[in-house]
Amino acid sequence: MIKVSNLDVNFETPGEVVEVLKGLDFSLDEGAAAAVVGPSGSGKTTLLNVLGALLPPTSGSVMIGGEDIAKFTEEEAARFRNRELGFVFQQHHLLPQLTVMENVLTPRLAGGWEESEHETRVRAAGLLKRVGLGHRLDHRPGELSGGEKQRTAVARALINQPRVILADEPTGSLDGETGNKVADLLLEIQKEDGVTLVIVTHDLDLAERVGGVFDLGKM
Ligand SMILES: Nc1ncnc2c1ncn2[C@@H]1O[C@H](COP(=O)(O)OP(=O)(O)OP(=O)(O)O)[C@@H](O)[C@H]1O
Ligand SMILES: [Mg+2]
Repeated sequence: MIKVSNLDVNFETPGEVVEVLKGLDFSLDEGAAAAVVGPSGSGKTTLLNVLGALLPPTSGSVMIGGEDIAKFTEEEAARFRNRELGFVFQQHHLLPQLTVMENVLTPRLAGGWEESEHETRVRAAGLLKRVGLGHRLDHRPGELSGGEKQRTAVARALINQPRVILADEPTGSLDGETGNKVADLLLEIQKEDGVTLVIVTHDLDLAERVGGVFDLGKM
């Protein structure tokens, strides 16, 4: 499903070229899960941004579902992100003025949906029920707990029925127990829906539970 070969990512800054990822190989089967670990600054977020077609690599190939996303134009990358990927970040990035339901529907604003808005709403309500927020559809983010906000972000990541979920320290802003519940939810979705999951974490217990551990500190 994911096959990264000989990936280099450099950042050009005034005065120097920062080599962040060098000759990196990484692969993950369809429906499998991997935890990406490594010290701060080792390139975990950079790798996730490349996998998410948010950052074009300096060189190398990045195959996801048979397409080389390193070769995408910006338009192709945007379409791919919207169709195939779900993102969960350390901060939830919910829009404060929108309700939980409206936040989950925001990926629709990018357009290109085959189903009616009503059908999407019905699915959104189902997803919110699944993440334990069936009773909070009309709340705004300011009226939710930290774990509830992150669970809303998970439902939003699922609304486009992605084949791949990319999560960058999704439990990083939560206390241990709340974080575990969000991690369990992501792993449940991976197993039940056959979604491929890449999760960046500092939490080694979580990394063990995810299964495959990819350590950028040892590259
Ligand atoms: N746009 C950029 N321009 C220059 N350097 C960058 C840029 N983005 C990231 N870097 C550098 O690349 C390195 C890797 O950054 P990255 O955010 O991927 O690390 P990380 O492993 O996610 O760290 P953390 O655990 O702190 O989140 C860092 O040294 C960072 O300073
Ligand atoms: Mg990071």
